[in-house]
Amino acid sequence: MRVAAALLRSALIAIWRLRLGDPAASPRLFLRISADMFNRSPGAVEIVVRPLSRQDAPALHAAVRDSIASLSAAFPWCRPGYGLADAQARVAHCEAAWERGSEFPFGIFDASGQALLGCAGLNQVDAGHRSANLGYWVGEAHRRRGVAVAAAIQVARFGFGPLGLVRIEIVTTPGNHASQAVAEKLGATREAVARNRLVVRGVPTDALVYSLVPADLADPGVAPAGAGVPPRRTPGEPA
Ligand SMILES: CC(C)(COP(=O)(O)OP(=O)(O)OC[C@H]1O[C@@H](n2cnc3c(N)ncnc32)[C@H](O)[C@@H]1OP(=O)(O)O)[C@@H](O)C(=O)NCCC(=O)NCCS
Repeated sequence: MRVAAALLRSALIAIWRLRLGDPAASPRLFLRISADMFNRSPGAVEIVVRPLSRQDAPALHAAVRDSIASLSAAFPWCRPGYGLADAQARVAHCEAAWERGSEFPFGIFDASGQALLGCAGLNQVDAGHRSANLGYWVGEAHRRRGVAVAAAIQVARFGFGPLGLVRIEIVTTPGNHASQAVAEKLGATREAVARNRLVVRGVPTDALVYSLVPADLADPGVAPAGAGVPPRRTPGEPA
């Protein structure tokens, strides 16, 4: 079942890149890198990062319910009445987004691959400029153990490897010190305080913008999955 899902995802990624006109796109490359997606984190904490599937909805619901207070401060989708139907809708959205190639959301699981610790993913994908936004959350019971950093490294490797991204942004409110610590631990560069960058509960809010580029993950322990693959350029893309 998992192999079938990996094959399907490989095909979808290949289609996504072919849509970009990537001449180097080959099924064999994507199969190899897709398998790499399921590797465990290289850091001290053992996690598995994989796309969510329908059977994960109850675990997602429970994880969100257990962390309503802190998640609702960060994310508009998290509200006191968050129910199983919301989690099911979220998983359906994630599956559809993978199919469209518009977002690449993942669940973060413990080493067994069963217990859901949080979520991380790439969204706001700009195919023309090969950039995306990286988001993450970890359930309150699992924080301060390096889970977010380990997951973010894996997701960034996926972005710079199979997706061929060249820039990943992390955008956080000035008061979110935990998120900033994760970005800094990843090696992201704080670029700016961007004015009115986020709308938080209807209020335009300044935000810190961090960036990651492939070279930031050049440390041997966190080498991007696509390392060694020659740089690619979308036809017509400015040099
Ligand atoms: C931000 C969040 C994902 C961090 O998850 P985590 O698994 O606890 O993070 P890690 O354990 O990988 O910690 C990475 C670094 O951040 C630091 N950190 C974590 N929480 C922190 C906090 N509340 N204040 C200051 N630093 C913090 C850690 O100490 C660690 O640095 P260290 O190794 O030097 O000690 C988690 O707090 C969360 O889910 N918050 C709510 C959702 C959210 O804000 N998401 C980001 C939206 S932009």
